[in-house]
Amino acid sequence: MPDIFGKSALLLSLLLSTSGAHAASASDSAQTVLANAHGIPHPAVIAHRGASFDAPESTAASYTLARDLGADYLEMDLQRSKDGVLFALHDNSLLRTTDVAKKFPARKDSPANAFTMAELKTLDAGSWFNEAYPQRARPSYKGLQILTLDEIIDIAQASPQHKPGLYIETKEPKQFPGLEHDLKNNLSKRGWLQPATVTTGEPQVGQGKGRVVLQTFEKSSLELLQKEMPDTPKILLLWVGEGGMTPNSQVSFADSGEKDKAAYYAKQQPKDHAEFLQWLDFAKAHGAMGTGPSAALTHGGDQSYFDLVQPWMNKATHDKGMLVHVYTIDEPVDFTKVMAAGVDGIFTNRASELLKYYQRPAPFTVNQLLEKNGY
Ligand code: G3P
Ligand code: CA
Repeated sequence: MPDIFGKSALLLSLLLSTSGAHAASASDSAQTVLANAHGIPHPAVIAHRGASFDAPESTAASYTLARDLGADYLEMDLQRSKDGVLFALHDNSLLRTTDVAKKFPARKDSPANAFTMAELKTLDAGSWFNEAYPQRARPSYKGLQILTLDEIIDIAQASPQHKPGLYIETKEPKQFPGLEHDLKNNLSKRGWLQPATVTTGEPQVGQGKGRVVLQTFEKSSLELLQKEMPDTPKILLLWVGEGGMTPNSQVSFADSGEKDKAAYYAKQQPKDHAEFLQWLDFAKAHGAMGTGPSAALTHGGDQSYFDLVQPWMNKATHDKGMLVHVYTIDEPVDFTKVMAAGVDGIFTNRASELLKYYQRPAPFTVNQLLEKNGY
């Protein structure tokens, strides 16, 4: 194989990896200055469950790819196993992304947190992807495991070329009393609650003071995260409806006559400006340095939600001295739309596309990187 991962590529990678969290210059916007004050690149590339368009979400394939593409952050949804180990998985249930029905038929409907880590590690968390997305399938995805937080930290630290940060969501924290405390202990034990000691050059994202960003939809979890980790940047995720902002309409999806959930969500809004502003005030008062709103996507789909990145919303957030990181956007048409509306970073399943859009393309293709990593 030609030395495509040799010295010149390394130099290019180093240049790219330090281009995000740069020292603010006179021409930087107020948002760039604010983001950089927190040690957060602007605009930020947040790899949603890793590079999860190209590899099974929240697995080693997905996170190593996101890292090697040059994403700023590896995003994860945090849960705790029956025996107390922190791990990454989006769904409460194991059914969608593992073979739990085959390995544990009698317990297949149990939540993931009812399994020990040893049990979770027996599951195949990759084969579902090959069946769902045959055009992106790879034999090597079969048998990929659910990852612990420690294993994701190992991935984030492992590459000399690029060290991404971690963007950690406390998922349904009411199911996990004490999760915020456990997370603090785990991050602290790994030395991730303070900047790393860097002897040469600028620290990369995963070494600086913005190396961890904490995120939650739950106001109570934000308060606990602030209590446990007051110096770590935090984002309050925004939603309309149950557990979130009061909507402007009480019509249910079933009664709405809309053809799909995306069309229904696109018409839902917070009940008024004051409702939106109250959530900003709560976020700021409880330690959040920004918000994570949803967006309505041009082509719909199951990630298309409420349009909470309208220019007035982003301006109101900026006016309160906070940043906006929008979820979850994969297409250039939507990158353009939300950037024009004023967001400061994007959660994406397609880190390769967003990095290209931000003119920070990875030095190698997705295929090259997957192969380099053994996939
Ligand atoms: O963390 C926010 C973003 O990930 C969107 O939500 O449901 O994919 O965790 P979800
Ligand atoms: Ca998430």
